[in-house]
Amino acid sequence: MKTAITEMFGVQYPIICGAMMWLCKPTLCAAVSNAGGLGNLTAGNYATEEEFREAIRQTRQLTDRPFMVNVTILPSVHITAEHHKMYLKVCAEEKVAGLEISGTPLDKAVGREFIDILKKAGVKLFHKVGSVRHAVHAEKAGYDGIYAAGIEEGGHPLDDDVTTMVLTPRIAETVKIPVVTVGGIADGRTLAAALALGAQGVMMATRFVATKECEVHDNIKQEIIRRQEFETALICKSIGLQGRAIKNKLVEDVLAVEATGGGLEKLIPLIAGNRVKAAWESGNVDDAPMMMGQSVGLIRDIPTCKELMERLVADAKEDIDRVQGIF
Ligand SMILES: Cc1cc2nc3c(=O)[nH]c(=O)nc-3n(C[C@H](O)[C@H](O)[C@H](O)COP(=O)(O)O)c2cc1C
Repeated sequence: MKTAITEMFGVQYPIICGAMMWLCKPTLCAAVSNAGGLGNLTAGNYATEEEFREAIRQTRQLTDRPFMVNVTILPSVHITAEHHKMYLKVCAEEKVAGLEISGTPLDKAVGREFIDILKKAGVKLFHKVGSVRHAVHAEKAGYDGIYAAGIEEGGHPLDDDVTTMVLTPRIAETVKIPVVTVGGIADGRTLAAALALGAQGVMMATRFVATKECEVHDNIKQEIIRRQEFETALICKSIGLQGRAIKNKLVEDVLAVEATGGGLEKLIPLIAGNRVKAAWESGNVDDAPMMMGQSVGLIRDIPTCKELMERLVADAKEDIDRVQGIF
């Protein structure tokens, strides 16, 4: 495959793993990169500079191919502005291939000088956005690419609530830098569709949880196979931190608190990061908000990352050939 993304990073496939708190660590990151795409190391998993540098080192021991680092700049109890600056400084010093920034853009969060330092170090900057206006801002600020994340995505979709189907072409027709589709992608058909919509690549997260290399309890992987596309819910809209998670007991509790006007104080114990970490490890799928996208409805097996990506690419080609036959 040849797109602006494969050319920019020198990778085989324009398939990128999205950030996943607690899950995007060296093993999964290297597995995606070794399979020809771009893995993700999520910086928020590491509390200190030493731990973060060690994670980069470990990833580089497992793969000699490029990978992305995510820095999430959203309100958080544990990850402070000092953490954000530390992550960015380390990424520049370590000359990582690329950065996935989500939430507040770098110029507003930490200042333009960080963009200059990262660009000088050769780090490619991508911002994950849910609107055309945020894509335009990122392009003006000097980013190298845009992740266009529709409302289908797991994690924290923007509360503009625009679908991937509309967001990708709107952003692709507006900015000149490459656009990657995020949200609703999990198989060859959706990869083919994203390319047809004007994307230069795709990002997936939920799909990568159900792979052999993802270090999560097997119950979670089995639950992903069982769940269908209508079994996710949007939570925490009331506190300005909308998130998409699979429907479970805990999500019902969160929605009940929100419906009665319960604010941050009542919600924090339910959505706390350590609760999520414990649930991923124990496999208790009712105990925490388990972030997942509507793409969960397209996932039916637990392949290796290599098997998954080779299948996606072969199926996408078949789909595009089939569609070409229509005209
Ligand atoms: C378990 C999980 C954890 C996530 N954690 C983060 C995160 O820490 N930062 C972030 O920017 N996005 C996070 N996301 C969002 C993903 O990076 C990606 O944008 C989204 O999940 C794509 O939709 P998909 O899961 O349907 O492929 C997370 C998603 C999942 C499924």
